[in-house]
Amino acid sequence: MSQTRWDDVDAFIVDALVGSDDALDGALADSRAAGLPEIAVAPNQGKLLHLIARAIRARRILEIGTLGGYSTIWLARALPDDGSLISLELDPSYAEIARKNVARAGLQKVVEVRVGPAMDSLDELISDRADPFDVIFIDADKDNYAEYFMRSVELSRPGTLIVGDNVVREGDVLDASHSDPRVRGIRRFYQAVGAEPRVTATAIQTVGTKGYDGFAFVLVEG
Ligand code: SAH
Ligand code: DHB
Ligand code: MG
Repeated sequence: MSQTRWDDVDAFIVDALVGSDDALDGALADSRAAGLPEIAVAPNQGKLLHLIARAIRARRILEIGTLGGYSTIWLARALPDDGSLISLELDPSYAEIARKNVARAGLQKVVEVRVGPAMDSLDELISDRADPFDVIFIDADKDNYAEYFMRSVELSRPGTLIVGDNVVREGDVLDASHSDPRVRGIRRFYQAVGAEPRVTATAIQTVGTKGYDGFAFVLVEG
């Protein structure tokens, strides 16, 4: 099976079920024009995040890794009018693009993009005793996924769903002696999730326009 085939099937799925609109298309187009890396979730993945957040009836969402706000828009569209989404982004210029994309989608009232290292922003949320989030999407630097996960648990309630992107990386996750700190980070993430008694989890391998990768799903228990 080839990347072309995965691309074609993703296009088929998007055409049949996902749809598109000016806000989503514009977010990708303006992100690309600004030179941001083209690593947003695929449209069918974005809609999966949206459906998960809706199924949970999420009112508070935390996203770690904003980029141009594409996944942010999918997630924020799952929220009621009085819901809120906080998205954490290291790069102030990315955050600025994301805010514009979010505003074009009419979501500026529910979305707040916080600039800075996610670790600091998470520690701040914890020390501020932020209300627990219903859905947390981990998608920033892979090196720190384990630390983001542990902090996410502190920002959760029983029933919170934590989703992690990019947890397979073409199967590189198998390589215990991989030199790439991102792969090591993902492996430490699995260890941290597996060792945490307060959660129950799985991960799913995916193929599509984003290549061969995967998502982790972690439910915080009572
Ligand atoms: N969730 C986005 C994609 C995020 S890409 C989407 O699907 O549309 C990963 C993002 O994490 C990048 O924008 C990158 O700048 C950001 N990032 C990298 N290191 C970070 C850090 N230490 N703290 C916060 N964000 C970080
Ligand atoms: C990369 C990051 C992502 O979050 C992603 O979904 C794909 C690729 C990257 O840093 O290469
Ligand atoms: Mg990702």
